[in-house]
Amino acid sequence: MRIGILTGGGDAPGLNGIIEAAGKTLIQSGHEVFGIEEGFLGIFENRMVPLSPKNLEGLHAEAGTFLGTTNKCGTEGREQEFLQCFKKLELDGLVVAGGDGTFSGLKQFEKDIKIIGVPKTIDNDLSGTDFTFGYDTACSVVAESVDALRATANAHNRVIIVETMGRTAGWIALGGGLASYADFILIPERPFDRDQFLKFIQEQKKHKRGVVGVVAEGAHALGEDVEVQFRVEGAPQAERFGGIAHSLAHWIDEKTEWEGRQVVLGHLQRAKSPTTTDRFLTLAMGVTVSQLVNEKKWGMAAVFRNGEVIAAPLEQLMQPARLVTHDHRWVKMAQALGIFI
Ligand code: F6P
Repeated sequence: MRIGILTGGGDAPGLNGIIEAAGKTLIQSGHEVFGIEEGFLGIFENRMVPLSPKNLEGLHAEAGTFLGTTNKCGTEGREQEFLQCFKKLELDGLVVAGGDGTFSGLKQFEKDIKIIGVPKTIDNDLSGTDFTFGYDTACSVVAESVDALRATANAHNRVIIVETMGRTAGWIALGGGLASYADFILIPERPFDRDQFLKFIQEQKKHKRGVVGVVAEGAHALGEDVEVQFRVEGAPQAERFGGIAHSLAHWIDEKTEWEGRQVVLGHLQRAKSPTTTDRFLTLAMGVTVSQLVNEKKWGMAAVFRNGEVIAAPLEQLMQPARLVTHDHRWVKMAQALGIFI
């Protein structure tokens, strides 16, 4: 068969691992494999490159995506054009690594476009899979940053706030914050009480030289709105959140004897070579993708559940986002460790 591979939405470390593992195993099974450039844009613009063991070699160790991606180009209002353009590519099937935006955009074409899915989001909040690749790498960036910032926080008696990605889900802040034993972890799912938070920060003065905490970009205080930095016109989720670390640092500066400072990690969280955990996940998903293609199990996805990669219906990835619940074991663990959350 002629099989295309497409990466859609924001990048995440591990996308290249999927391209290499799925690409190589599909070629080994005798298929012709093509990479579609820049997500849906490549379909509209007929941009497809043949993939070979040679151009796939070594991709697994690189962040980003060899094929390029975009989180701006949708199919809305251009459905017929999209379908016609796709037909011109003469593909028998399409492997798609994407998030809810990419899969919802493709759902309407399920009769015409045969898809095998791979769940992708740096925020780790897709339903239907326990973890997404790239998440572990993002957590390691957060943890390394918090660990490093402790030295300067202690040297200057400061509270340093590290802002992480996470629009509506606090997984990156929670995972990275736990791994580095951050002093506080503020996440969108748990709006914080300003008075309680202030009391906690003031208490720290008694026994600490410095404080380092983590805040997800979508976190906010009780009764307050999330801070919007700017809008990306044409993107399915146009608002870009951010600024909470900056305003909290100022507020701490004003209200306490601590000096407040902030660091926004931003796209560094998506920029690092994938950890071994993420590499294993993408290798396993790539192999499962090939099996699904060989068996023509269209409409299925390679997902990670209970410690292994399995096949599940693609539509399970399109359920509402998987958020941090109030009684999640990691929340309880943070509380037991004395972390303000
Ligand atoms: O949804 C994934 C995500 O990385 C968010 O955590 C972040 O807010 C956003 O995408 C950043 O988008 P962009 O790459 O367009 O700046």
